[in-house]
Amino acid sequence: MHKGKLAVAQAAAELVQPDTILGVGSGSTVNLFIEALAARNIKLEGAVASSEASAKLLQQHGFDVLDLNMTGGLDLYIDGADEVNKEMHLIKGGGGALTREKIVAAASKHFICIVDNSKQVDVLGEFPLPVEVIPMARSYVAREIVKLGADPEFREAPRTDNGNQILDCVGFKIIDALTMENTINNIVGVVTVGLFAARPADQLLVGYEDGRVESSSR
Ligand code: A5P
Repeated sequence: MHKGKLAVAQAAAELVQPDTILGVGSGSTVNLFIEALAARNIKLEGAVASSEASAKLLQQHGFDVLDLNMTGGLDLYIDGADEVNKEMHLIKGGGGALTREKIVAAASKHFICIVDNSKQVDVLGEFPLPVEVIPMARSYVAREIVKLGADPEFREAPRTDNGNQILDCVGFKIIDALTMENTINNIVGVVTVGLFAARPADQLLVGYEDGRVESSSR
């Protein structure tokens, strides 16, 4: 495991205020973050999770998991990413939780993205862009993605938490992330594209192998 993941997870746990409702993302870095949060013995009013897996881990550590419909807006969301560029636009969804991640990010005032330095890129797209689709639209959406210049690969994985499927789109070089996000979102049958440009991160924490963590804000 990249040591920066643990370093950044621990640094993020230090930023969480007690007695708040926290938005919590998904993935291996977030799992370390949840563990770091529990190790701090911090008492939260509750957490809103972006996946069933994160909800389970939070509950195992004694945190109350709340329904976003009952909490209203959140002050803080903490989540990982598969790629991040200088504008803090992200590719997310390697773990398949992109739709709920986008919902919780949208509902949160401040989004801190936690990554190890291997995730930083100049141009997004080397990591295959995940697109969650309604199952009956899968082939249609795939053909539309081909027209945009990428090669969509059907992810052989259990359905997402929302009962949908994922196309991993290989070969995009994403210069204008906002336009690409809107274009793919507008294909009928697409639930969510894992491009976070309309709602980028506000703050980026990057962890390095030597344990250093750097923070920057937009
Ligand atoms: C989950 O669907 C993703 O968006 C994750 O945030 C992303 O894949 C980062 O995961 P890791 O922390 O496991 O690298």
